[in-house]
Amino acid sequence: MTALIETRDAERTFRVGRSLFQAARTLKAVNRVSLSVAKGEILGLVGESGCGKSTLAKMLLGLLEPTAGEILFAGQPLYSIPRLERARRVQPIFQDPYSSLNPRQTIAAIVSLPLRVHGVGSPTEQKKRVAEILDLVGLARRYADNYPNQLSGGQRQRVAIARALVMRPELVICDEPTSALDVSVQSQILNLLLELRKELGVTYILISHNLAVVEHLATRVAVMYLGRIVEEKDTESLFRHPEHPYTQVLLESVLTPEPGLGIPDSQLGVAFPNPIDPPSGCTFHPRCRYALPRCSTEAPVPLRTNGSLVECHLSLERAAREHRAAAAADTATGAAPQ
Ligand SMILES: Nc1ncnc2c1ncn2[C@@H]1O[C@H](COP(=O)(O)OP(=O)(O)O)[C@@H](O)[C@H]1O
Ligand SMILES: [Mg+2]
Repeated sequence: MTALIETRDAERTFRVGRSLFQAARTLKAVNRVSLSVAKGEILGLVGESGCGKSTLAKMLLGLLEPTAGEILFAGQPLYSIPRLERARRVQPIFQDPYSSLNPRQTIAAIVSLPLRVHGVGSPTEQKKRVAEILDLVGLARRYADNYPNQLSGGQRQRVAIARALVMRPELVICDEPTSALDVSVQSQILNLLLELRKELGVTYILISHNLAVVEHLATRVAVMYLGRIVEEKDTESLFRHPEHPYTQVLLESVLTPEPGLGIPDSQLGVAFPNPIDPPSGCTFHPRCRYALPRCSTEAPVPLRTNGSLVECHLSLERAAREHRAAAAADTATGAAPQ
């Protein structure tokens, strides 16, 4: 089956810090990421602030070209798809609905803009479609003539969702869609996203630094650390058997009294490293409670088994031990040498 969206060793670097006294340096925000999202999935993408989630999201939206590697949408290079077509098929929902909504336009004008840009239907048909989508996102039709500042945060996010979905996109990329909202409103919006998936058959990529949110919604989860995907599994396995030491710490943070606060630094000891100057070997090693000597010198290679991925020397060593044990058992039970 062709993936709906797929990245192959996608990389994005930025040149930063150029000043009179300093040469520009390269920051690798996304470092050779290979991901594949099938139609109908909800891929959760988690990791601390600064690990590269939004950069990857912008690359998947067609807003930021990779500096290396490939991104394929329905088997076609994403950046070869004309911009308008791309915008019709892949839509974003961002964290702050206020800054992404034009304050001088009415809700009806904001939601119908994509229809007008793409020349879909007559003005009467557009009006009908706006009314339908407002119903679908649970916003009373009487708000159509209001302006964004007359709405609450949750209502504004419903408008942003309506605008994202009005063209019936195949993929919706939600970057921290509820982080700016009150906790009580957050779950309403998340449940709305789930309902709309059933209703419209959209595929989601859901970015959040909050694992509790992702556990509730995602079918599969990718954990990102300093530009790399360090673990990726179906949601249930990830939460039951987190393998990467970083994932384990993230999960412990979900069990803290206020999971909405995200990832407490205390459990990781050392602060998030500077991405311009990442640690050698496995970039997580200075914060890892199980680090082995080789972790500081040698970057682990990804270990892929039955559709899951983990990138950690501990897992590689465990797999090698199991392989040796299985081989020894085969020798013991197999035909004895003549
Ligand atoms: N336009 C840019 N120019 C320079 N550095 C950037 C730019 N965008 C992001 N970065 C850097 O890339 C890294 C990843 O950022 P981002 O993708 O926003 O992470 P996240 O969304 O996980 O918080 C950060 O170190 C950030 O400072
Ligand atoms: Mg971000």
